[in-house]
Amino acid sequence: MSENKKIALVTGANKGIGFEAARQLAKQGITVLLGARNAERGEEAAAKLRGENLDAHFIHLDIQDAATHQAAAQVIEEKFGKLDILVNNAGIALDAGEKPSEVSQDLLRKTFDTNFFGTIAVTQAFLPLVKKSNAGRIVNVSSGLGSLTQNSDPNWEFYEAKPLAYNASKTALNAFTVILAHELKDTAIKVNSADPGFTATDLNGHQGYKTVEQGASIITDLAILPANGATGSYFDDQGVLPW
Ligand SMILES: NC(=O)c1ccc[n+]([C@@H]2O[C@H](COP(=O)([O-])OP(=O)(O)OC[C@H]3O[C@@H](n4cnc5c(N)ncnc54)[C@H](OP(=O)(O)O)[C@@H]3O)[C@@H](O)[C@H]2O)c1
Repeated sequence: MSENKKIALVTGANKGIGFEAARQLAKQGITVLLGARNAERGEEAAAKLRGENLDAHFIHLDIQDAATHQAAAQVIEEKFGKLDILVNNAGIALDAGEKPSEVSQDLLRKTFDTNFFGTIAVTQAFLPLVKKSNAGRIVNVSSGLGSLTQNSDPNWEFYEAKPLAYNASKTALNAFTVILAHELKDTAIKVNSADPGFTATDLNGHQGYKTVEQGASIITDLAILPANGATGSYFDDQGVLPW
């Protein structure tokens, strides 16, 4: 392995947009670690990419289980000594049409546990390794549904999509992007939110009209931003999104 080879970790990479982002990053010549909570699914996904001659490896990572964050960070420290790219992709959407006035505390908490609290815990566990990269990049996979500006715009294409738990968890994740980017503003690390757009995956019963290739492209772009690229911002494949 070349010492200069970049190392990327993508969470929730066993399927969907995360799997495709892992593939796109590996196609850039990056060593990609596919984080997955289920070893069988994760190993299978990594083997599929290796079958395409890509440098891809499974790493056990459950967003909800801090012990797996620590164990994975230790493995990466020992094997690579750094992490260049962290893609916080793993996410859940549990809302099933509940009115915001009636949504349960349980659904809200479960959603936030993964999409917000767990994602922050993962980032905190890997940040010391990202600081060892000379060009660290953190991509928080948000959603256009996390934009308060778009949620308030009756002319927005998805104005009627108001699942409170999911949307609010992504708004909170966007706050993490802005505030972590501020903490790291005097470092080489760039932190951005990505909106893949409405993409056909298990998350939405494959109703999305974008392919995973299209959905993952903004994640890949933000993961390999050049030194003069943005930080503390929010993008889809058309450009900057309003918070
Ligand atoms: N699809 C869209 O239209 C769309 C639009 C905007 C944003 N997004 C965001 O894109 C990201 C990827 O979503 P997707 O559409 O690709 O959905 P998906 O196909 O359902 O994939 C979600 C991934 O997250 C993993 N995951 C969930 N909870 C986890 C946990 N506790 N620990 C580790 N991994 C966990 C899943 O693992 P398992 O296989 O083990 O469940 C799976 O690998 C999410 O953050 C989502 O909010 C999606």
